[in-house]
Amino acid sequence: MLLRLGLFSLALVTSSHCFGTHIEPRPNLLWINANQTFPPSRQTHQHTHDPSIILAHDTFYLYNVGEHIVIHTAPSLAGPWTRVGTVLDANSVIPKGDRAAPWAPTVVSLDGTYYCYYSVSKAGCRDSAVGVATSKSPGPGSWVDHGIVIQTGTGNGSEIAPYNVSNAIDPATLILANGSSFMTFGSYWTGIYQIPLSKTLLSPASTTHPAAQHLAYEPKAQGPPNPQADSICGDPTGPHAIEGAYTSYRDPYYYLWFSRGRCCDLDRGALPAEGAEYSIRVGRSEDPQGPYFDKAGHDLVDGGGTIIYGSNAQTYAPGGQGVVQVDGTDYLYYHYQNKSVSLSFSDALLGFNPLKYVNGWPVAQA
Ligand SMILES: *[C@@H]1O[C@H](CO)[C@@H](O)[C@H](O)[C@H]1NC(C)=O
Ligand SMILES: *[C@@H]1O[C@H](CO)[C@@H](O)[C@H](O)[C@H]1NC(C)=O
Ligand SMILES: *[C@@H]1O[C@H](CO)[C@@H](O)[C@H](O)[C@H]1NC(C)=O
Ligand SMILES: *[C@@H]1O[C@H](CO)[C@@H](O)[C@H](O)[C@H]1NC(C)=O
Ligand SMILES: *[C@@H]1O[C@H](CO)[C@@H](O)[C@H](O)[C@H]1NC(C)=O
Repeated sequence: MLLRLGLFSLALVTSSHCFGTHIEPRPNLLWINANQTFPPSRQTHQHTHDPSIILAHDTFYLYNVGEHIVIHTAPSLAGPWTRVGTVLDANSVIPKGDRAAPWAPTVVSLDGTYYCYYSVSKAGCRDSAVGVATSKSPGPGSWVDHGIVIQTGTGNGSEIAPYNVSNAIDPATLILANGSSFMTFGSYWTGIYQIPLSKTLLSPASTTHPAAQHLAYEPKAQGPPNPQADSICGDPTGPHAIEGAYTSYRDPYYYLWFSRGRCCDLDRGALPAEGAEYSIRVGRSEDPQGPYFDKAGHDLVDGGGTIIYGSNAQTYAPGGQGVVQVDGTDYLYYHYQNKSVSLSFSDALLGFNPLKYVNGWPVAQA
């Protein structure tokens, strides 16, 4: 549904981390995919947006955007997926943005506790926060909402760099074998940052000195700025369209995944220029704190990013991705639109592909 909120025309309601401004597509070499072919998406027939999937006790758990963060389970990635409940019993305790239906959750587990990182925000604005809820079970019923991990735009701590120039959404936490943990976040504006978390995984290692690494940024704006953009809503320098970071590990590399381009607010009559829609990119590093480089040797923070999966056949604008390991094989999962069915936000589908590594670079398989 499109709502006009003065500044922007926004895809709200079940909104995710999408920026949702009306962007005039313009030719820009950076945004054109190099005629790559991709294998078809493995289908699940499951609606989702910004999926997070874990495997626990032989059951797959899917968490996604929806009222109170929706949980589905399935015996395999292909499904059938069954809705079993929600993470939160009520709205997020954080008094910001879309508290009723937090965006872009990522669930991780450590020592028998499950941590669900989520975001509350408003489409197109960076008055946002990352929150976290924990539970002893990956299913519904026993989650405790601990509230804010970090915030941007307004509120305590938001004046500290990099929170004063970034957007605290799309959290994803990486837990290393040695017990250290790092959380990536960011969307549009200045891109993707990573901060060390405290041992509890509920707060930054330091609230006053974040020790943030700037890991990915798209220097080229995908279009002109909205004339009414300010430092909180819109971006006076135009939309720098990367978001949805996720870090996976496959010895000896850490892989920083992100989505680039327009995720949502897709109008069949005015699609973004080819290659300017969502696609899934990656860079790698032997150090979890980066820097991350793409296959051509470009630092992700300078606009690098190797495309691993993009639009093909009826699959359109795949993104919001993550990686789950099953029997030693990594699977890339994401949401996409089926071009011959619907481009509307609520009709986005869960798709996945196994990954093969060629010279340490992931390649999506049929
Ligand atoms: C992609 O293919 C089209 C049509 O074959 C061609 O005109 C274009 O130059 C190609 N682009 C790249 C980046 O190779
Ligand atoms: C962000 O905060 C830092 C201090 O943490 C300051 O040096 C910098 O100027 C601020 N940037 C903006 C755009 O306010
Ligand atoms: C774990 O390894 C990371 C990356 O090598 C390092 O930054 C961190 O300090 C280590 N943590 C501990 C507790 O040794
Ligand atoms: C704001 O953050 C500081 C530093 O973490 C903390 O000491 C203080 O209690 C916080 N204030 C509020 C109102 O949460
Ligand atoms: C898209 O939908 C069509 C029509 O239902 C179906 O035949 C096709 O397999 C779907 N493709 C994907 C990738 O979902």
